Amino acid sequence: MSIDVDVLVLGSGIAGLSFALKASAHGKVALVTKKSDTESNTNYAQGGIASVTAQDDSFDLHIHDTNVAGGWLCHKDAVEILVKEGPKRIRELIDLGVRFSKEKDPNGKVHLALGREGGHSRRRILYSADLTGREIERALVSNIKQKENIRIFEHHIAIDLISDEKTCYGAYVLDPDTGEVMTIHAKVTMLATGGVGHVYLYTTNPLIATGDGVAMSYRAGARIANMEFIQFHPTTLYHPGARSFLISEAVRGEGGILRLSDGSTFMENYHEQGCLAPRDVVARAIDAELKKNGDECVYLDITHLSPEKIKARFPNIYEKCKSVGIDITKDWIPIVPAAHYSCGGVLTDVDGRTSLDRLYACGEAACTGVHGANRLASNSLLEAVVFAHRAAEDAGKVLSEYKSWASDQECPEYAIGNHTEPIDLELVKELTVKLQTVMWKYVGIVRTDERLAKALTHVQSILNTAEDMYKHGQLTPELIELRNLAQVAELIVLSAMERKESRGLNYNLDHPDIDDKLCKKDTVIVKPF
Ligand code: FAD
Ligand code: SIN
Repeated sequence: MSIDVDVLVLGSGIAGLSFALKASAHGKVALVTKKSDTESNTNYAQGGIASVTAQDDSFDLHIHDTNVAGGWLCHKDAVEILVKEGPKRIRELIDLGVRFSKEKDPNGKVHLALGREGGHSRRRILYSADLTGREIERALVSNIKQKENIRIFEHHIAIDLISDEKTCYGAYVLDPDTGEVMTIHAKVTMLATGGVGHVYLYTTNPLIATGDGVAMSYRAGARIANMEFIQFHPTTLYHPGARSFLISEAVRGEGGILRLSDGSTFMENYHEQGCLAPRDVVARAIDAELKKNGDECVYLDITHLSPEKIKARFPNIYEKCKSVGIDITKDWIPIVPAAHYSCGGVLTDVDGRTSLDRLYACGEAACTGVHGANRLASNSLLEAVVFAHRAAEDAGKVLSEYKSWASDQECPEYAIGNHTEPIDLELVKELTVKLQTVMWKYVGIVRTDERLAKALTHVQSILNTAEDMYKHGQLTPELIELRNLAQVAELIVLSAMERKESRGLNYNLDHPDIDDKLCKKDTVIVKPF
């Protein structure tokens, strides 16, 4: 089957949905998403969305905090746009029906409640209890469903972009239920496929986060940047029954204290901001303490807050922990770091344009440059709405240029190939776990040249096997994702090898210092054709 649309959007997280809503003003939109419409990293966001709204806050402070967290590698223009356009986009979210939590001030006046997280010098995070992402997805999906010119393809997975190394013409999309591959031709394609968490064995991300967009764009010839900067969230629940459940940084924002098993605190030895230091510092400190003491986890203690406050502010975390036997009003929470966020991605300008004509990227799949070497907490949801808006405005202009465009006139003939040979699903699963284990062991929070070299050998061997299986094998989501995970893993390792310094999230014992002279630039990789 082949269809033609004006706009193709891949992904239904905050980036894809925000873009689709606005782009629908300019034409017919197909929105493809590989699970149900709300399933995305966005749906699990807890802490909230950062933006300057308080009297004691300023754009300068938010810009400064973003740059400090980002190891001064952030793109100056992109950060200014993020911070200064943020409040307008937040207003729009509220107008679309997002219900942020509110509180009363001492004079009894009700206003938006503001949370705090690591690296922020002010309270500036709007939240919806500890289920902010779910509330945003609910509101956006409900608005999308009212648009007659947006067609949603749930449970459809994009396999590859249709491109000729210069221009993107749409994508090939698999319907796993029927095995049919659809060709979707589009005047404009938006890649909003989210993160890469499942490149690692332990991650806070849901199963959708397999780096599909980054891998597809790389194969199509787009520029990929800063993939070495993988953010590990310091506080993931350490429990066999809930290994990847996030304990929001907002818990530390409300006074949560990190402790070793004997009750002693340690963050004061690592950073002046203690438990509220930027995320890279906290994750490395925990990693160091675990290695020093041989412990399996450290603890997060919130028991000094009243049970009422804990249950009202963190209902989801309270319930989840309770379901595995931890009462966070009385017990310390066992935690470990896990892979959380990709600061790198498909390189874009400040209007979401990638290096391929008519291909845009937005959200976690993109690298706008706002995060530099380490993302400031809760800047991700903000980045998605700010740059989705700008990309939709830009796409509107492109669409008016291509008004009379028809796919058969301009789009070259492409073929997805024959995929008829049965594949061994058990082998695909085995290779996936092997890849994730290699990345966890050798390309984690602390790296060395030797470990990176070892990782590259393993990763490239798995990538070659996956590509061989893909060439003629029957297409299944598992095989498509393994191919993408292996491709993204290779990009992460190659980028980490190229950065001969320790900045932000890239910490390499063989290059322990920051080298501004040689390394204060993005790591950009393009596929050689
Ligand atoms: P996603 O929300 O991940 O959406 C990606 C979409 O693409 C999904 O719909 C997916 O199914 C689809 N997709 C992927 N591949 C394909 C394919 N091949 N074909 C079709 N569809 C595809 N950030 C904050 O700013 N504040 C927070 O409080 C916060 N908390 C977080 C908590 C958790 C547990 C996690 C995991 C992340 C958190 N983050 C937070 C990060 C933030 O949620 C994400 O970076 C952001 O939501 C990404 O949005 P997105 O739209 O780019 O991608
Ligand atoms: C959290 O709630 O700790 C996650 C916030 C983020 O990733 O920005």
